[in-house]
Amino acid sequence: MSVLPIRVYPDPALKEQAAPVEQLDYNIKKLIENMGETMFAAQGVGLAAPQVGESCRVIVIYLPEKKDFSSYMALINPEIISAEGEVVAEEGCLSARNYRAQVKRAQALKVCYLNDKGAPCELTARDLLARVLQHEIDHLNGILFFERLSRIKRDLIRNRLRKLAKAAAVD
Ligand code: NI
Repeated sequence: MSVLPIRVYPDPALKEQAAPVEQLDYNIKKLIENMGETMFAAQGVGLAAPQVGESCRVIVIYLPEKKDFSSYMALINPEIISAEGEVVAEEGCLSARNYRAQVKRAQALKVCYLNDKGAPCELTARDLLARVLQHEIDHLNGILFFERLSRIKRDLIRNRLRKLAKAAAVD
């Protein structure tokens, strides 16, 4: 297992529509393991493949009830099949460090996906888990959390992140 570098905004990998996984082969299994490792190293609660530069529909989610390195769940080709309610809460992203904002999300949802064995599964989630799932599935569609904000707030965060990226490139 290895910790992968996390892409940060405005890396173009974050803007792509990720491709569905056609075959759960060795490379995808390896990617899932590495994504789990990378998420823990970064102390994140979720990670999507485009954040490590892989344009495929794979996400990993931290499961707080377990306390070791197996405490994550992989969802392959996840799709939201129903959603209800609305709740506003603070969110951040490993690809936009130092920025957090209040984002409106569905309160509960049902997601279908393939698990890491390739079996079709369904999951009902609410509150924090529902929020993390929506955030990570957005990544698969090239959407970052601040793009869900009002235009003024969105542009403010975008501009600051672009400046940070430029400053980092100069260093
Ligand atoms: Ni994120």
